[in-house]
Amino acid sequence: MNAFAKQANDPIEAEALRLLRLLLHVECSTGHQWNIETCRQIAPLTLEINRLKQEKNAVILTHSYVEPEIIYGVGDFKGDSYYLADQAKQAKADVIVFAGVVFMAETAKILSPEAQVVVPDRNSGCSLADSINGEDVRNLKVLYPDAAVVCYINCTAEVKAESDVCVTSSNVYNIIATLPQKRIVFVPDRLMADNIRKELANRGVDKEIISSDGTCVVHEEFTAAQIAEARKTFPGLKIVAHPECTPDVAELADFLGSTGEMMKYVKSTAAPYYLMLTECGLVSRLAVEDPDKNFIGGCRLCPYMKMNTLLKIRDALANPQPDQVITLEAGLSKRASHCIERMFELAD
Ligand code: 13P
Ligand code: SF4
Repeated sequence: MNAFAKQANDPIEAEALRLLRLLLHVECSTGHQWNIETCRQIAPLTLEINRLKQEKNAVILTHSYVEPEIIYGVGDFKGDSYYLADQAKQAKADVIVFAGVVFMAETAKILSPEAQVVVPDRNSGCSLADSINGEDVRNLKVLYPDAAVVCYINCTAEVKAESDVCVTSSNVYNIIATLPQKRIVFVPDRLMADNIRKELANRGVDKEIISSDGTCVVHEEFTAAQIAEARKTFPGLKIVAHPECTPDVAELADFLGSTGEMMKYVKSTAAPYYLMLTECGLVSRLAVEDPDKNFIGGCRLCPYMKMNTLLKIRDALANPQPDQVITLEAGLSKRASHCIERMFELAD
């Protein structure tokens, strides 16, 4: 039987071909390219998840750092943390599966309290979110009573509940610039705070930024020496970095922005090579959506984002365990929602 006849008769074969068309240029977790065999192996699972989504009136939100077979195989929305928060707010679904990390799912629950929000793996934390708690923020407020408290979205609901406004890497500079307070307590990313100080000074915005001490385990590892070496080897190379990187790295990058902005930059420029100083998932997304671009090595894996798997998503949808379901105390959720809603107001 030829491939087309087989496809017409066999839904698994049709699904495997759909997946192969999408994943053709992406490395799979074995380190090899996807092929028809590997796609056949996951096709029953993606079919089952897509059927469960319909049965349960569910949507799957996928951060760009999760595995591409999740993003393209079963995801309904894909993007950076601001975009996904916005989608969670607008979602009409009964169930939201958040394939990302727990703080993102908490944000979705705060914005869509009526929906059941589930995470594939409860241990999918974040080194930034885990670096600070509500009490730490209350102590900072005692020390700096005149400051506005700005939290990066990579923090827990408890920290959001103590903050005046939330920001993401796509809106942080504009939002801080519009705040009336000169003094800003920024939590939890120390390196992003350094980058904010620099960018606001470049824009002529006079703010004093006080930060806590969190860092991202992925982005803090990129170095200026790595950039210098790569530029020597690949003339014309564009360096694209996330603002969670060190100020040294940020300074040397050709472009600095959120994961969504980094993707737009690569898609809209023509360069012989790109070095993406961020999580590897972004390179996989670009391999699908802009397959003619060349990426040199350098990206790193986020251990938390990579805890998401198709199997865990299927289980979270079919029969969520108590630890997969996000629950937040109503008062805390309401207080946390103020700072996220303020972000939407100021970002628009
Ligand atoms: P984005 O807001 O750019 O998606 O970043 C989230 C994140 O966790 C980066 O490490
Ligand atoms: Fe957190 Fe860094 Fe992973 Fe983003 S990449 S989720 S900031 S640990």
